[in-house]
Amino acid sequence: MQIITSISELRKLNTTTALVPTMGNLHAGHLSLIKQAKSVAEKVIVSIFVNPLQFAPTEDFTTYPRTFEQDCEQLEQIGVDLVFTPKITDIYPNGMDASTYVQVPNLSNILCGISRPIFFKGVITVVNILFNILQPNKALFGEKDYQQLFLIKRMVKDLFMPIEIIGMPIVRETDGLAMSSRNNYLTTEQRATAPILFQTINNIKQKLQAGERNFAELEQQTITKLITAGFTPDYFKIYRTDLIIPTPKDNKLVILAAANLGSTRLIDNCQVSSL
Ligand code: PAJ
Repeated sequence: MQIITSISELRKLNTTTALVPTMGNLHAGHLSLIKQAKSVAEKVIVSIFVNPLQFAPTEDFTTYPRTFEQDCEQLEQIGVDLVFTPKITDIYPNGMDASTYVQVPNLSNILCGISRPIFFKGVITVVNILFNILQPNKALFGEKDYQQLFLIKRMVKDLFMPIEIIGMPIVRETDGLAMSSRNNYLTTEQRATAPILFQTINNIKQKLQAGERNFAELEQQTITKLITAGFTPDYFKIYRTDLIIPTPKDNKLVILAAANLGSTRLIDNCQVSSL
């Protein structure tokens, strides 16, 4: 039996823990989540796990950048309490195909879910497993992956998990390109083209703020612009912020885009609420 006589000792028993799940190759986007985690919790855990369940066989699981040592140096500098970097067999002891999985229906089948049909099953399952292993009170995710953040919030709500999900703004390069571990794949020429994705989103944001409401036409015009600029667009969509197709009267909107430059997939988004 433990006897406690000081409040500070008692508080230590109820330490708030915040988790920042990542796949490593940390950049300023990840670091912004970690810094915020430190300000909302006493203990910060960062997980680094390149999750095979969220990659299709044709995708970049094997070539995904793994920079564990540099990542740890950065984490040490910021003052993270714990780095959790499990093996695949720790997370999926029965093998990936035989493991129990978690899926958010419907919303997993739109936007990124159309061209990446197994992606959200993999993300939601691994986040659930990490939550169960690490038992955080809070977890932080980036708005860069808007649909991912939305689905994680939904999972936590649907399953009554006692975890606060905190979304953090997109961190960008000075030319507007959203930071991503996959930006390293771009050739010099592609890297020069890449900010156009954000520019087109901003352009549509301005049009929506000016009152334009022909969503289908705005989407189609932008797809054409992106193709001309050298992208292979996957989607360019205007949705309500709750990921429902909007009517012209809706004013809480989000512009979401995914497009390839060569074999590199870029995603970006921007919320438009001040109309
Ligand atoms: P990863 O791509 O490593 O991203 C980890 C977290 O960093 C995610 O919450 C993501 O939204 C956030 N992030 C990435 N780039 C960002 C940027 N430019 N600005 C702000 N936040 C950014 O997302 C994943 O890993 C995985 O799917 C994961 C959730 C870890 C599950 O495997």
